[in-house]
Amino acid sequence: MPHPEGQGKPCWSGQAPTLGDRLFAWFMSQCGPKVTWRLKGRKQALFERLHRDHGIKTVVEVGMGTAPNLEFYGPFVDKVIGIDPNTAMAAYALRAAEAAGVASKLRLLTGRAQALPLDDASADAVVMTHVLCTVKDQAAALVEARRVLRPGGLFIFLEHVAADPGDRLARWQRWLDPAVGVVGHGCSATRHTLEAIQAAGFSAVQAERFRLDLWLPAAVVAPHVAGVAVR
Ligand SMILES: C[S@@+](CC[C@H](N)C(=O)[O-])C[C@H]1O[C@@H](n2cnc3c(N)ncnc32)[C@H](O)[C@@H]1O
Repeated sequence: MPHPEGQGKPCWSGQAPTLGDRLFAWFMSQCGPKVTWRLKGRKQALFERLHRDHGIKTVVEVGMGTAPNLEFYGPFVDKVIGIDPNTAMAAYALRAAEAAGVASKLRLLTGRAQALPLDDASADAVVMTHVLCTVKDQAAALVEARRVLRPGGLFIFLEHVAADPGDRLARWQRWLDPAVGVVGHGCSATRHTLEAIQAAGFSAVQAERFRLDLWLPAAVVAPHVAGVAVR
């Protein structure tokens, strides 16, 4: 179904943010840089694909939040469409774009991963980092990511995920999941995101599991997966 980009609502015309949205946007603006610092090497390696493949011009970042990934996109990307349902993120994202010197490349739209306000095959790459942990219907979000990607386009992801069932941490994740939902504005520590990506019909999925070095209670989001899938 066509969703011309022009029909996507610019962030400032979207629904007014709730107090919870504003608080979460502020929280992300405070802890986002620390998380990015810890993941810097991983993100550099992951986004290196965008530097290598000069055909990647249009990148759609779903759940862009405060836009901590802009610094990794490199010089060949000439258009970044950031999509997020929380309009309180926009001010932070615009500030990050200014700081990264890419404000003129960025367009922000209000929207959800499960119904992207974009045309079929209109993106060279779709990016999601720490988003699928919050999206209830991951399968629908991944159908949408594939729909807006052109054939051969890249889906780049980095997500915290459920620990292996035999791992003691899996029990902590179940116990602390309600608290994760409150702190993370609907986030869950128990998602099997790589399995969902592998079942989403991409032609190839390359992924690596890794663990962030964190202590409890933060360690409930230590298990991660990062990778690239090809449409
Ligand atoms: C933990 S933040 C991560 C933000 C950013 N991607 C990062 O790496 O810092 C999760 C983001 O996903 C957004 N989000 C929540 N539900 C969403 C949905 N259904 N579709 C798209 N984005 C969503 C939130 O508003 C928030 O900006």
